[in-house]
Amino acid sequence: MNLIRLNTINFRNIIDLDIQFNNGLNILYGNNAQGKTNILEAMYFTSTAKSFRNTHDENLIHFSADQAKVNALVDTNSMQKEACIKIFKNDSKKIYLNNNVINRHADFIGHFIVSLFCPEDLMIIKGDPSFRRRFLDILFCQTDKWYLDNLIKYQRVLKQRNTVLKRIKNTHEQTWLEPWNDQYLQLACTIMEKRSRSIRILNEMAGRWHKRLNREHLSIAYHNPVYTGEDLFAEELQKAFQKRQQQVLHEEMEKGFTLLGPHRDDLDIYIDAIHTRHFSSQGQKRSAAISLRLAEVEYIHSVMHEYPVLLLDDVFSELDAERKNKLIAVFDRKVQTFITGTDLSQIHPLSQDAAIFKIQEGKAVPHKHD
Ligand SMILES: Nc1ncnc2c1ncn2[C@@H]1O[C@H](COP(=O)(O)OP(=O)(O)O)[C@@H](O)[C@H]1O
Ligand SMILES: [Mg+2]
Repeated sequence: MNLIRLNTINFRNIIDLDIQFNNGLNILYGNNAQGKTNILEAMYFTSTAKSFRNTHDENLIHFSADQAKVNALVDTNSMQKEACIKIFKNDSKKIYLNNNVINRHADFIGHFIVSLFCPEDLMIIKGDPSFRRRFLDILFCQTDKWYLDNLIKYQRVLKQRNTVLKRIKNTHEQTWLEPWNDQYLQLACTIMEKRSRSIRILNEMAGRWHKRLNREHLSIAYHNPVYTGEDLFAEELQKAFQKRQQQVLHEEMEKGFTLLGPHRDDLDIYIDAIHTRHFSSQGQKRSAAISLRLAEVEYIHSVMHEYPVLLLDDVFSELDAERKNKLIAVFDRKVQTFITGTDLSQIHPLSQDAAIFKIQEGKAVPHKHD
């Protein structure tokens, strides 16, 4: 996939931007707080209609404006598509794909995929399980509509089940849960099966990347109380899940919320058989996060038969020269890549034919090659 052109108005500190990009490497450099990450955020927004910065949409609008617009012309599978999103002050937005209004957010997902590497990726390794579930869910939702639909349904049923559990906290009236039982079981198991299968694929990919870049052994494993390593067939899985559910039901009614299900899943990440979250150095954690992102890119390619667009925000400053060179060699030319950094001399030698933009006060000025 390629981002051909980005046009944004009043997005954060970028008042008016209209740039065309290189199919290979693009470098955005400039001092801190000039708008480099904001530009990548705008690109990410045209892919997911969400910010990666965990913020309300209305915060994306320039302080002095009351609406913002991002517009991306992309090339996917040799077809040009135009994604456009308008953001309004009341935290609402309007999404268009090829000038058609998209009413359901889910219908927008998967058309144009970007892979973002950023310093906050460290949280995938050292943060709480929700960071790892988010990593998996964004990846699987973008590459599998069926998963996306099931996850939305699951979240809805989980919410309803929790409401019932809260209501029967004192009475322990189990029959109230019955209308949700079947649906909850089916959806939970569907999601668990997909996660277990896909994590196994990601594990192989991440392991290979990690060996290549670090000469260490990285492995990831699905962490779920019903799965104990081996894959289960649908029927066995449902039986095992129901059995566990019976065991926790009393506690669920005591606490008033659902204790068992994919909303509590985790990913165990090991380097040389040592649990990274608790025992690895900061440098190892960072390398593990990069390997997971590389696996993500390869996974997207294996499913979509196309590479996503890569956004590398500030990741180069923290890598040594050898890893930097290896990382860039992995993707150069095959994958459209955007790299941000403050020091051009650190990035530019990596690719002489990159398109370079200097970012200053929300403006992008093309840089002439020496
Ligand atoms: N809604 C907004 N309106 C105007 N400016 C904003 C908004 N949100 C963030 N900014 C400004 O954007 C700048 C940070 O941009 P960023 O892209 O993160 O910088 P960097 O170039 O270091 O990556 C800050 O100066 C911040 O004040
Ligand atoms: Mg930044």
